[in-house]
Amino acid sequence: MKLEDRIAIVTGAGSGIGAASALAFAREGASVLVVDVNEAAAKATVEQIELAGGRAIAAHADVTRAADNQAIVERASAAWGRLDVFLANAGVPQWPADVENVEEEAFDRIMAVNVKGVWLGAKYALPVMKRQGRGVFLVTASTAAIRPRPGLQTYCASKGAVVTLAKALALEVARHGVRVVSIAPVATDTPMLPAFMGKRAADAEARARFVATVPLGRLNRPEDLAAAAVFLASDDASMITGTCVEVDGGRCI
Ligand SMILES: NC(=O)c1ccc[n+]([C@@H]2O[C@H](COP(=O)([O-])OP(=O)(O)OC[C@H]3O[C@@H](n4cnc5c(N)ncnc54)[C@H](O)[C@@H]3O)[C@@H](O)[C@H]2O)c1
Repeated sequence: MKLEDRIAIVTGAGSGIGAASALAFAREGASVLVVDVNEAAAKATVEQIELAGGRAIAAHADVTRAADNQAIVERASAAWGRLDVFLANAGVPQWPADVENVEEEAFDRIMAVNVKGVWLGAKYALPVMKRQGRGVFLVTASTAAIRPRPGLQTYCASKGAVVTLAKALALEVARHGVRVVSIAPVATDTPMLPAFMGKRAADAEARARFVATVPLGRLNRPEDLAAAAVFLASDDASMITGTCVEVDGGRCI
């Protein structure tokens, strides 16, 4: 097992990429604090992990709140005595619109969750990892940071910010034996996907339009990102830090 006896926190783990990653971490031997603003969803992920024989605890937290970030780091440390992996994954999408039609409140919300939420996770998790002299802080960014699609300027800017944040943090903590890596998924089959398409549901036409932009000819499955996160969290990736790993079927080429 690649993460035997590791302690992990995954935010936004009640759904999609976060849920698949929490399941994969547990399957690889980690104990996982499953964090989501939707507590029922976090509990459902924990149930799945336990059914598969893994260890997990559900925690309610809004990643935009400093106190909630502090509380989840303390909770993992209190329950299991350490913190080896933090996957800052919680995020919100943007409904496609030209910039003049985006409400200021939408900008503030996207930045609060997608940027401040990651920054707050780092603020509380990295000191613990530095003290341990070991740890991995992962961020779910997006190909939107590298190869934007039209009409998603606010979301793209938020993901660009965390790709650079991850690089800056990687430099800051490298001498403490801590790694920071961002992951850039292309369109992924999760409940978030239809929003990027400006749809309530990802219909065949919209899906085909997105697939046509991915050289490998399919969308991501949440498990594609979970596999990348397991690798990056594991010692197999011990020389990888600061980079942004594109899991995108070639979209960013
Ligand atoms: N689905 C895609 O096409 C895609 C592509 C690239 C990147 N991403 C990124 O992947 C990450 C996961 O998205 P997903 O596709 O699994 O979406 P999802 O909607 O399935 O899951 C997101 C989860 O985050 C939680 N969440 C939202 N705001 C939160 C907050 N303030 N505090 C705590 N939890 C919160 C939600 O309750 C939900 O359970 C996001 O950062 C997203 O931007 C998604």
